[in-house]
Amino acid sequence: MSLLKNGILWKDVHGEPIHAHGGYIIFHEGYFYWYGEDRRENYYVSCYRSANLTDWEFRRHVLTTQSRMQGYRVRTTMQLVNEDGNKVNLERPKVLYNQKTGKFVMWVHYENGKNYHDAAVAVATCDTPDGDFVYHGHFNPYGYMSRDCTLFQDDDGTAYFISASRDNADLHMYRLTDDYMNVEKLVHRLWQGEYREAPAVVKIDGKYYMLSSFCTGWAPNQGKYAMADAMEGDWSTLTEIGDETTYQSQPAFIIRWKGRVLYYGDRWGGDGSRYFESGYVVYPLALEGDRLVMEYVDQIEL
Ligand code: GAL
Repeated sequence: MSLLKNGILWKDVHGEPIHAHGGYIIFHEGYFYWYGEDRRENYYVSCYRSANLTDWEFRRHVLTTQSRMQGYRVRTTMQLVNEDGNKVNLERPKVLYNQKTGKFVMWVHYENGKNYHDAAVAVATCDTPDGDFVYHGHFNPYGYMSRDCTLFQDDDGTAYFISASRDNADLHMYRLTDDYMNVEKLVHRLWQGEYREAPAVVKIDGKYYMLSSFCTGWAPNQGKYAMADAMEGDWSTLTEIGDETTYQSQPAFIIRWKGRVLYYGDRWGGDGSRYFESGYVVYPLALEGDRLVMEYVDQIEL
């Protein structure tokens, strides 16, 4: 077993840099699949696979400018290249496996590649975890703005999409339809005016914890978390976690593995100008009494 050094751009098993920023990991049939932003060439989302969370094998550029498109709902815009012929922006891709349909469903923040005014979410699906995803276009849930986002799947299969709305001032939580293809209900408008971004949810001992960052672009800031007894129940106010830069990171996602709770964050390169050098961190989370704490570690063995 090897150690992962925090804060650097990790390499895959072939020594190539892993480009899976703002990502998400799911476990499926013996493997972890890591999806994330890959902004090189004509790529949007890449997928890597590992059995141990350390040795990652590149699988595919699962979403690119060339991805197949297929509409599925009204008022969805299908555009993987903008009017100027440039790439659009697809950020923070998250993927869940839907037991009922057998599909892997991706939700990802969409912008037009020129500015951040669309504040929309795009959906894509695939029959396998690491195949070519079919792009289903972008929309604004119930007309709302939707920027930094995450997905969370509860034990009973109920899934939620959480995203920054009202110019990032409020964090919206939507319950998804059974097939994870659409929003079914706006269940919460959380922390009004607190400007929370980069949400990530984990369930520990039957309670739900949501980490998020403040809104300072690529620069890291003080992480905060909140707790609830149920996703659709009342969420607490925000409590600080980590230090004033969340140990130089912004939340990507949280997973549970071998009895540990593992926070994954992005350490963005500079002010975004060194985006392609952006690295990754994993910090263990633990409950101390009823407080969630983040442990700073230089390196970690998973
Ligand atoms: C961050 C956000 C990133 C990206 C960046 C652009 O706040 O979390 O995903 O959108 O802003 O400036």
